[in-house]
Parts: sequence; C-alpha cells; structure tokens
Amino acid sequence: MERTFAIIKPDAVERKMAGKILDRIEAAGFTIVGMKKIKLSTAQAEGFYYVHNQRPFFKDLCAFMSRSPVITLVLEKENAIAAWRELMGATNPANAAEGTIRKEFAVNIEENSTHGSDAPETAAFEIAYFFSQLELV
Ligand code: CMP
Repeated sequence: MERTFAIIKPDAVERKMAGKILDRIEAAGFTIVGMKKIKLSTAQAEGFYYVHNQRPFFKDLCAFMSRSPVITLVLEKENAIAAWRELMGATNPANAAEGTIRKEFAVNIEENSTHGSDAPETAAFEIAYFFSQLELV
C-alpha cells in the first residue's frame, strides 16, 4: 500500500465539483485516510509550492491557491502516486486524456482542479505539511 497527497483546488471547490471528484476517487479504489477543508494563506501556499518559486507562474499560482478554500486529502491504494496522477490526467487540461478529472473539470493549466504528489519523497513532504499522524485513519 502507498499513500499520496491530493488537493481539490479552489476552482473545483468554488464550482461545487468536490463531491463529484471525491466520488471518482472512491470509485477508483482509493481509501481516503485523511481529509480536511482549509483556506490557505498566501504564505502557506508559497511554502507548499516552494519547489516552483523560480517559475514565472509562481506568484499567480499561490494567489489562486489561497483565494478560497481547498480540500486536502491523503489517499491510499497500491501504487497510489501513479494511480492518482493517471486519474487526474495531464497538468494542462488541453493535453489531458478523455475520462480524466482534469479533462472534465479543469479550467486551464493553472486552475486545473486537482493536485497530486509526483514522487514518494514529495508525498511524504506534502502529507506532513498538512496532516499529523493522528489525523490519518
Ligand atoms: P500542480 O500539479 O498543483 O503543480 C504545480 C501547479 O502549477 C500545477 O498543478 C498548475 O496549477 C500550475 N502550473 C504548472 N504549469 C503552469 C504554467 N505553465 N502556467 C501556469 N500554471 C502552471
């Protein structure tokens, strides 16, 4: 079993699509072992996305991620990291495969509805950024 970290981003929560996305997550066989709805500050978004701090889109990305609440999740399944990335689809919804979450729900490359960890080390950092051990059940 592997764990990954996921976010349902402001664009999806604002458009009341969180329930549909959670339904897809459970239908795909993930167990939700942690879940909370929070409103990030700009500084908290910057800390989460620090690996992107030299990218031209960093400031806009952190403004977007802190403009309204998000739903943070820890998902468990065999090969959860790869499986969640496959279910989300490509970062840019224009390139996302049919049937993926981003193809169906995302607005554009920035407002792309969901986030997922890209490697085990990233997942460990991202899970610990939002959840304590006691909150993972
Ligand atoms: P995410 O998977 O959360 O990881 C980094 C985020 O940066 C990404 O999803 C998008 O929301 C955003 N992003 C990545 N590339 C671009 C880009 N070229 N322009 C704007 N936003 C981007």
